[in-house]
Amino acid sequence: MRTNVLITGASSCLGAGMARIFAGNGHSLALAARRTDRLEALKAEILAANPEVDVRTYALDVTDHGQVFEVFAAAARDLGGLDRVVVNAGLGKGGRIGSGRFEANLETALTNVVAALAQCEAAMEHFYERNAGHLVVISSVSAMRGMPGAISAYAATKAGVAHLAEGIRSDLLKRKGHDIKATTLFPGYIASEMNEGVEQEIRLMVDTETGCKAMVKAIDREVAEAAVPPWPWAPLSQVMKHAPLSVLRRMV
Ligand SMILES: NC(=O)c1ccc[n+]([C@@H]2O[C@H](COP(=O)([O-])OP(=O)(O)OC[C@H]3O[C@@H](n4cnc5c(N)ncnc54)[C@H](OP(=O)(O)O)[C@@H]3O)[C@@H](O)[C@H]2O)c1
Repeated sequence: MRTNVLITGASSCLGAGMARIFAGNGHSLALAARRTDRLEALKAEILAANPEVDVRTYALDVTDHGQVFEVFAAAARDLGGLDRVVVNAGLGKGGRIGSGRFEANLETALTNVVAALAQCEAAMEHFYERNAGHLVVISSVSAMRGMPGAISAYAATKAGVAHLAEGIRSDLLKRKGHDIKATTLFPGYIASEMNEGVEQEIRLMVDTETGCKAMVKAIDREVAEAAVPPWPWAPLSQVMKHAPLSVLRRMV
């Protein structure tokens, strides 16, 4: 079992939901985010339900790249090594390209791509030293194609991190005699703070717990890639990849 799991963006919906499930399955946890009051509340809740589990919390702004390396090293020291890192922290801000919302799109790009790069670097350095570990990158089904309007930049960031993880898998193919894996998850619509009030998504949205269960199931299988929940997102993501752009526009 990948015993010690670090999750970024653990203060909110999907990160917190995965943490609860991992703790229930006996994993020790390093939980990182900016809102440490939420992390402390989550830690107390997890320990009440699973007193035997080791839970550590860390204040982390992933866009502070030095802090990413420091927190990952501190968590590795505190837990006695990291077996799995879930690069989950993300931002969904944005506006149609050219609509004057550059600052929002930039913030999303810096959080979802550049900061994810820092997290992948820190995790992979640690895994290469140990010759073992599991990197999990949270992309999105919106990464399948270019997306219109307010999610253009967001979708591009999620395509970026998916390619980053695939590049890492390609490196791992060449390396012999290790137990390092890299997984990319493509979540569909899962209820969270990020998509609160986004009306067109509601018909396909699952609740947070259902979504997190599907995510953890795919993570534990250590597959290269998975759309989650698999239904309807595994077939739908294939349709998204091949649909004419005019059809795709109406699907999202
Ligand atoms: N929900 C969905 O339908 C869906 C679908 C596809 C992909 N995803 C992806 O799933 C991941 C989790 O999203 P969510 O739905 O759970 O959204 P959420 O409820 O808004 O949570 C986002 C998390 O990211 C953290 N975060 C944001 N900026 C950060 C920063 N600069 N430094 C550190 N942490 C930061 C937040 O923590 P703090 O604010 O406390 O720092 C929070 O814990 C994201 O990568 C998102 O893109 C979600």
